[in-house]
Amino acid sequence: MKKFYITTAIDYANGQPHLGHAYEKVLTDVVARYRRLAGDEVHFLTGIDEHGQKVTQTAEKLGKSPRELTEELAPRFVELCRKLNISNDDFIRTTEDRHQKVVQAILQDLYDRGEIYKGSYRGFYSVRQEQFILEKEQLEDGSWPELYGEVIEIEEENYFFRLGKYQEWLVDYLKNNRFVVPAFRQRQVLAFLEEPVNDLCISRPKARLSWGIPMPFDEEYVTYVWFDALINYISGVGYGKDGFSTYWPADYHVIGKDILVPSHSVYWPAMLKAIGVEPPKALLVHGWWHVGGQKMSKSTGLKIDPIEFSETYGADPLRYFLTREMSVGQDSDFTLELFAGRYSADLANNLGNLVSRLLNLAGRHCPDGLPGATVEEDPERSLKADWEEARREILSAYEEFQFHLAMEKTVGFITKLNRYAEIRAPWKLAKSGDARDRELLGTSLTQLAEGLRLATHVLLPVMPEIAGRVLGLLGEATPATWEGHLAWGERLKGRTLAEKTILFPRLHLDEEK
Ligand code: MSP
Repeated sequence: MKKFYITTAIDYANGQPHLGHAYEKVLTDVVARYRRLAGDEVHFLTGIDEHGQKVTQTAEKLGKSPRELTEELAPRFVELCRKLNISNDDFIRTTEDRHQKVVQAILQDLYDRGEIYKGSYRGFYSVRQEQFILEKEQLEDGSWPELYGEVIEIEEENYFFRLGKYQEWLVDYLKNNRFVVPAFRQRQVLAFLEEPVNDLCISRPKARLSWGIPMPFDEEYVTYVWFDALINYISGVGYGKDGFSTYWPADYHVIGKDILVPSHSVYWPAMLKAIGVEPPKALLVHGWWHVGGQKMSKSTGLKIDPIEFSETYGADPLRYFLTREMSVGQDSDFTLELFAGRYSADLANNLGNLVSRLLNLAGRHCPDGLPGATVEEDPERSLKADWEEARREILSAYEEFQFHLAMEKTVGFITKLNRYAEIRAPWKLAKSGDARDRELLGTSLTQLAEGLRLATHVLLPVMPEIAGRVLGLLGEATPATWEGHLAWGERLKGRTLAEKTILFPRLHLDEEK
């Protein structure tokens, strides 16, 4: 069976993991977990990009070799995945043999077939973007767009990939396929392709950059960063071996908006076309996180350490915040105050409150198990109708990558559960000796537990650990798929719930600051 294959970009191993890296992994993980629950077999690949100038430059500054630096940083990125409950099936490093061999085999094949040629190149080169840039991008005052950082002029012999010849095919492909999500980003790619595309310089002389995969046909050169990095998506799933078609074409490459054009949307499909491999089915492109309204950067000290943050405040609350706050495709702002606001309003005071209320009352009044729902009146009927509506909206939001909406609707349904609790007020019913009140008490606790069970299931992709714990408190195992679990029913009848516990401890922001 073809697996649902999803990837993240591979992060440059030239610094500690930051919030942007964390977000991309969380977003991809939400998709991966959602697809597993929806019944797909999923393969989720992430990893790090170890070669190139950025890594070399950082290593030099630190007085280390590039290899020393990436050996130090690789475990940090693996730890980021573990700390954030990322369910990746594999982690690829571009220094691994399995990757380097594939890159070299592809280069040799393309060279043998004349798709790669040697030429002379003189041009402006962005050190930050690791790419040559066009003169027309120079600003009127002779400077360059900030995006490019330091720009230098270089002339040298290099190897080129015949990118230009794939332009027509690519335009045609993009006009006929939904390739980039959200759609407005696909239009950006088409706009880029309105201008002629040059062949792509894919090498660096070893004399200038030694930290890269050697060109198999010329040892004086190493591979240019994108021709190395992009290939991870296929080297990581056994390109050239039996079983590759279980994974390829990838269903989604999840990337940030900065690496859509031209690398993922132009170079990558053309490279694949040149080796006779289908393009990935789609690119899912997210926006950028800012911190306190400003671009994240090392120099301004605005970077948030996601590992430390999740240790302090919990991985799932961070995952929830990132998912709830960002509409995929747009940019978003991260501040501790916004995080704390969501934490207390949505998690502690809403979900946490419901859980502690329910466990408290059930422990006291249903120690031998929930009696089942014997009364059905307007409050019960409308609660069930609310769930039906929420379920439809939540599932369609998941399907359409509107994860912030999926969370908004889920929390909205939890609010409805709390409201139902206020209406039925089981704490008052418990004080009454009236037989009907006893029935209502049992009914309301059973219904609250059932509603919580359902809400928790749809939280699983975003808060796997906390949702799993809540299910455990209800005596439920975490299911492998949603099948048969999302319908309102009597599943918990007779179930004795666990003792009260605190899921969301109070935040002590001032002290933490
Ligand atoms: N190594 C390349 C990608 C090669 S993929 C074949 C790279 N690395 S990166 O470390 O700079 O970025 C990795 C991912 O993190 C990219 O998708 C990028 O968009 C994302 N983010 C980096 N900063 C970000 C934010 N501030 N916010 C959200 N995501 C951001 O590019």
